[in-house]
Amino acid sequence: MGEILATTDYLAAAESIDADLSVVGPEGPLVAGVVDQFRSHDQPIVGPSREVARLEASKMYAKEFMQRHGIPTARFVRIESDEAAVRALAKFDYPLVVKADGLAAGKGVVIAHDRSEAESAIRTLGPRLVIEEFLEGEEVSFIVLSDGRNIIALEATQDHKALSDGDTGPNTGGMGAYCDGRILSQSDTERVLDTIIQPAVRATGFTGFLYAGLMLTADGPKVLEFNVRLGDPETQPLMHRLEGDFGDVLMRSATGELAGASLKWKPDPSVCVVLAAAGYPGRVRTGDVIEGIDAAMKDCGAQVFQAGMRVGKAGFETAGGRVMGITASGTDLATAVKNTYAAVERIRFDGMHYRRDIAQKGFKRWRS
Ligand code: AMP
Ligand code: GLY
Repeated sequence: MGEILATTDYLAAAESIDADLSVVGPEGPLVAGVVDQFRSHDQPIVGPSREVARLEASKMYAKEFMQRHGIPTARFVRIESDEAAVRALAKFDYPLVVKADGLAAGKGVVIAHDRSEAESAIRTLGPRLVIEEFLEGEEVSFIVLSDGRNIIALEATQDHKALSDGDTGPNTGGMGAYCDGRILSQSDTERVLDTIIQPAVRATGFTGFLYAGLMLTADGPKVLEFNVRLGDPETQPLMHRLEGDFGDVLMRSATGELAGASLKWKPDPSVCVVLAAAGYPGRVRTGDVIEGIDAAMKDCGAQVFQAGMRVGKAGFETAGGRVMGITASGTDLATAVKNTYAAVERIRFDGMHYRRDIAQKGFKRWRS
């Protein structure tokens, strides 16, 4: 999430470079009210108000919001004490899901397989919690841009949140993602827009990027979580496929003029593999020298999205957990995967680790 400055500092920074438009990446400044601050000074900005950002900042708020507006989501109980939490366990079968109420950078959710795991999650994450039923299905990230009334849907993507291959190991911020037109069928896309996105935008007058983390269940798509920003690493394969003037569309979303605008996507699927530093997602070692970025870009046509990197004495070095996202495309998903991993193999730093099965979920679904 990075360091969060005072909202007035962001405003001063934007004014000092005479910014035409500001686009907020992480949730911290949104939850702190940076959009309200900019709007009160007539500075164009893409993002939701502090009040609307509660959709991401509080799981309790988000779940009650969905309940009020009939938006499909897992059955849940809102909890404010450890005793109430233990009593609520009787209302669910195992596995069940325990979620901390507030922002937790991907670490606030535990899937408990028995009572002792559930009680231990309650002790760690409580007392303000949501306990909910476990949903089975395929997980899909669906992001839209809205100006408060009009909506443009981005292509659907799939994230890989677990650290290791086969969705094993601890949860992370996301170890890779891919974008392929087949991830969400046309009929599911319409259903998501009708039953989830439209009601949420109408009820909040949402401005900026609304991210619905979905589970495609046997009963249709249901919301696992809302984020009020673009996803990471979903954005990398999305940007790789985007054509045309994104700046123009962003400006129109900030000024309420999104009607009639559209985004165009290159047909080729794209894949992003995150390279992580030694220790991630635990205590991270920094300062390892990075080699091979030029080769990854020039020899393999990959885009290198920097994240936890800095310039040191010997050139680029690691400076955070998820160091970079290597992103490439291909005429089909298999070729996109091959091109991306060819670029990954050009990069070297001590302690580098990554998943080798990004996009395999797609192959399992479509067998090609
Ligand atoms: P969240 O931050 O709410 O998206 O939860 C993080 C991750 O936990 C999700 O990406 C899912 O993989 C998993 N998860 C959350 N809620 C559920 C649920 N009700 N059923 C199954 N998996 C879940
Ligand atoms: N990739 C999930 C997120 O950005 O929260």
